Amino acid sequence: MTVPHVLLDRLGPVCAVVGAQWGDEGKGKIIDALAPHFDVLARPCGGANAGHTVVVDGQKHVFHLLPAGCLHPEKNIVLGSGMVVHLATLLEEVRRVEALGIPIRERLALSTAAHIVLDCDRAIDAALEERRTQTTGEGIGTTRRGIGPAYARKAAREGLRCEALLWAENRLHGAVAGIYADARERYNVDSDPALDLQNLREARDFLAPHLVQPGSLLEMLTSGKRRILIEGAQGSLLDIDHGTYPFVTSSATTVAGALQGLGLPPRMLCSCIGVAKAYCTRVGCGPFPTEAAPIAAARLRERGGEYGATTGRPRRCGWLSLQDLQYAAGINGVTCWAITKLDVLDGEATIPVWSTDGSRTVHDELPGWTAAAGARTWEALPSQAQAFLRFIEERTHVPVCFIGSGSAREHLICRF
Ligand code: IMP
Repeated sequence: MTVPHVLLDRLGPVCAVVGAQWGDEGKGKIIDALAPHFDVLARPCGGANAGHTVVVDGQKHVFHLLPAGCLHPEKNIVLGSGMVVHLATLLEEVRRVEALGIPIRERLALSTAAHIVLDCDRAIDAALEERRTQTTGEGIGTTRRGIGPAYARKAAREGLRCEALLWAENRLHGAVAGIYADARERYNVDSDPALDLQNLREARDFLAPHLVQPGSLLEMLTSGKRRILIEGAQGSLLDIDHGTYPFVTSSATTVAGALQGLGLPPRMLCSCIGVAKAYCTRVGCGPFPTEAAPIAAARLRERGGEYGATTGRPRRCGWLSLQDLQYAAGINGVTCWAITKLDVLDGEATIPVWSTDGSRTVHDELPGWTAAAGARTWEALPSQAQAFLRFIEERTHVPVCFIGSGSAREHLICRF
């Protein structure tokens, strides 16, 4: 899929892609289409809680830590200071892509300031979920990837950063032992640090040459007029400050968090693509006002393959909330929408949509369509599907520039 020059000119040299809902919006597909047109692919925040999916020649690739555009060779890859990195997962991912004959390490820069997620963080995550469930009857429904505990340690200024990979063995050993002792004392998590220490040693040999100080990272990003594609993780409604707290992740998932995570000055940003599904999903607990009734939800889940890319959990499914999109457009300064998975709504008699009119919530039922799947041009879309997309534009005052009509790379419409 080649993105037309007119649209690339509109995006400018520094473009952020952020989720406008509760994650899983299909950011991977948009990133994959844009990646060939940029020089640097950067993940600013989050960790292996993300699962960005790209389908190439019928084969599905899921990325948790590497940017989803990394299958395009020769692009620089940046893992920013705002990330929390489970090193064994990163190594596995790098090896998996390199086994396809696509080199990663030679173009990888990992910030020394990114924090390390240890295996005991996963155990703490699970213990905290259990504690919440016992005390309030409901957990957050985290991915149990240790994200919360790693960010908590970071905020407490007790974290272990990737720079630790350059430390002498006894210093690293002492730091890990201290974190494990703390896990035991505070959370009653009694696990053995041996595997983590082994992973850290392996990561040191593998990644040390690719560790970059934040200052050098900034220079790398800002010098030489490089085109930078910023890949946000999760979605705006999972943002620690602006999301549906406490049912959120532990990082800032909005565009401001992305700039912070990379250490980029806001004035460099030229555009922000808000990615939203034509309907809506959520994994984990928390409010979901437009959640569909069970039969309709099951229909969307099966058609949309709505099972977590990281955990395999069935996603809760519902209808589009333009109220959420209006909010996401506001906090991120979204300059255009990418509306994905339009084909999943094929066959629905009517499409429920919620929006706001002043302080009033408005519920509309738009006419459905039968055949958006596989469309490659705007003209090939059924007129009702076009009307649905125009409705999104009218209510949010943001143009729809990308439309996903299927999982394959070529099932993407660019409109400008
Ligand atoms: P955590 O980020 O694992 O702590 O999970 C906190 C909440 O964010 C849970 O509801 C997760 O299901 C959700 N979450 C975290 N990452 C993602 C993602 O990439 N997609 C969708 N939901 C996510």
